[in-house]
Amino acid sequence: MRLTRGREIVMVRFRGVEAMNAETKRKPVRKAVLPAAGLGTRFLPATKAQPKEMLPVVDKPLIQYSVEECVDSGIENIIIVTGRGKHAIEDHFDAAPELENFLERKGKQDQANMVREISDLVRFSYTRQKVPLGLGHAVLEARDMVDEEPFAILLGDVIMTGPEPATRQLIEIYEATGQGVIAVVPVPREQVSLYGIVDTEPPVEHNGRTIYRIRDLVEKPSPEEAPSTLAVVGRYVLPPEIFTYLEHTKPGRGGEIQLTDALRQLAKERGLWAYVWEGKSYDAGDKLGFLQATVELALENPDFGEAFRDWLRSLKP
Ligand code: UTP
Repeated sequence: MRLTRGREIVMVRFRGVEAMNAETKRKPVRKAVLPAAGLGTRFLPATKAQPKEMLPVVDKPLIQYSVEECVDSGIENIIIVTGRGKHAIEDHFDAAPELENFLERKGKQDQANMVREISDLVRFSYTRQKVPLGLGHAVLEARDMVDEEPFAILLGDVIMTGPEPATRQLIEIYEATGQGVIAVVPVPREQVSLYGIVDTEPPVEHNGRTIYRIRDLVEKPSPEEAPSTLAVVGRYVLPPEIFTYLEHTKPGRGGEIQLTDALRQLAKERGLWAYVWEGKSYDAGDKLGFLQATVELALENPDFGEAFRDWLRSLKP
């Protein structure tokens, strides 16, 4: 994946460091918000009576990938925003003593340990979004739990894979700049209308990473209007000031409170960076993205990846 997409990398002094707010810098990123209250309409009928976040990708529910990314990134407290019909998410990350005892009695200690580890991963808290009024609204529901701390947001239906956890990389950039940062990936120009697209200044090299100061964000632009082909993919590390912007964000497209609108304000008034994610990302809340994630992760599975690869090859005409 090319980072600069034909644009010249400009080596400039890293202005974010100078602009760093000393108080914000002192606070580490300890919390993550996982909005999971959406209705999952793109995945109907599978999501009629079960949360899309609980659809299994290979051998674990979709949302567990985000939870594990948080754990690998040093997050200590995960706040999951749930809604009606989402009990299975809380149950999944809760202790299951009956199941653990049953497995132990049957001599299946490995499985008992695996079940126990899921609830021991990290500290979980839950808040509810009564009505799914948009991603921005869901994040705002977590305000009291996040309090005055910088925090990560991970969309529970997006799986990011790569040599390092995406959220950890964003946290490092946040801690170096003292400003918010979001992950973006290059997409084909004909697909920009499916995403939020960033309008950026020329890239800046920082500690071996290429980052872009965001001028603006455009939600689902046409290919002709798109200011770049860098798409927002569902990983953010933001300062607590985002809540003030969200609070004043008026409902936009579809009557929903869009996180993008608050991010535009944040970018203009406090600064916001884009980091081009070099790993893979799958929108597994979409049927095709879900299948792609399933196949690629199954191929990497140490137990049956090879057998699965052989079977896939056998399908070729
Ligand atoms: P999506 O747009 O992918 O989720 O939102 P959705 O609304 O459930 O899906 P479709 O489009 O109807 O298929 C991105 C993330 O934001 C959460 C979703 O659960 C998903 O993780 N979300 C979205 C909320 O928590 N609340 C909302 O009101 C909207």
